Amino acid sequence: MNIFLTRKIPQAGLQLLEQSGHTITIWEEKRDLLPSELIDFCLKNDALLSAGPSKIDAAFLEACKHLKVIALHSVGFDQVDIAAATALRIPIGNTPGVLSDATADTAFLLMLATSRKAFSEHKRILEGNWGFFEPTAGLGIEIKGKTLGVFGLGSIGFEMARKCVGAYGMKVIYHNRGNNLKAEQELGAVKVSFDELLAQSDILTVHTALTPETKGLFDIGVFKKMKPGSIFINTARGAIHNEADLIQALEQKLIWGAGLDVTNPEPMDPSNVLLSMPNVAVLPHIGSATVETRNAMSVIAARNILAGLAGERLPFVVNEEIYANLKLEVKN
Ligand code: DGY
Repeated sequence: MNIFLTRKIPQAGLQLLEQSGHTITIWEEKRDLLPSELIDFCLKNDALLSAGPSKIDAAFLEACKHLKVIALHSVGFDQVDIAAATALRIPIGNTPGVLSDATADTAFLLMLATSRKAFSEHKRILEGNWGFFEPTAGLGIEIKGKTLGVFGLGSIGFEMARKCVGAYGMKVIYHNRGNNLKAEQELGAVKVSFDELLAQSDILTVHTALTPETKGLFDIGVFKKMKPGSIFINTARGAIHNEADLIQALEQKLIWGAGLDVTNPEPMDPSNVLLSMPNVAVLPHIGSATVETRNAMSVIAARNILAGLAGERLPFVVNEEIYANLKLEVKN
């Protein structure tokens, strides 16, 4: 059978696909595929491995309903119309778990970089402005003993909280729909209301999925409720915060600073005012970008593809419900 990859993936996963005997086609150009190009390629293939931002929307799915499986090279699946895929009985695979540690590392990195103005201080050297020592210049704030607020305490949020408790003895509060008993037992995390999270967090870190409920949630009204002097971290999805409102909150010093691994849109325009703010650290969506994690993600994505092509249940499937009726399990 034929497999289309929207990007070259790490060798660990690629090798599994190559050894499977299926025919592989990889999009090698250094640009995103146009929607029409994606459809054209998929019409000639039985499976799609999608790495990157390609929209897997209802129109695409309708045009490519022959696909036996779509495997994402990401844990997030907000780019996919899951309901449409489920209606068409196309299993969607993702890569949960393996990237939690690396993504939490990125949140931790941004927390420190923001609190110590690391990116702007580095820029000062590049610009020839090291200058002379001033006891009152370039001062950051310390993290030790402060309160970490986690919005969306799942696997990535747990790893971030674990690092913060271990490194700085931080108190952890969180806001979720359900309770995270593991975090409560192991880290002493306390579940609070959304307003309490905003009012009490010194560092507020976002680890929730992008959904209609979370889209644009962090707007000026929400930033106004955050603790003065606090830091906002987002390594989840850029559309969860309203960027113009975040800029306003920083300019009005409603909060101390912000660390972002995700922006809206991506890529961020290089003239964006956030990039010249001293208390802001922005990274180009590198949350899971380590050799170990990307290898592990590629292996999961490849296994999802191979299982889908064999008519088997995907090891990591988003739309579980397509297996509810066993008669539907194999897509003919
Ligand atoms: C993920 O896996 O969802 C990362 O954010 C990459 O998109």
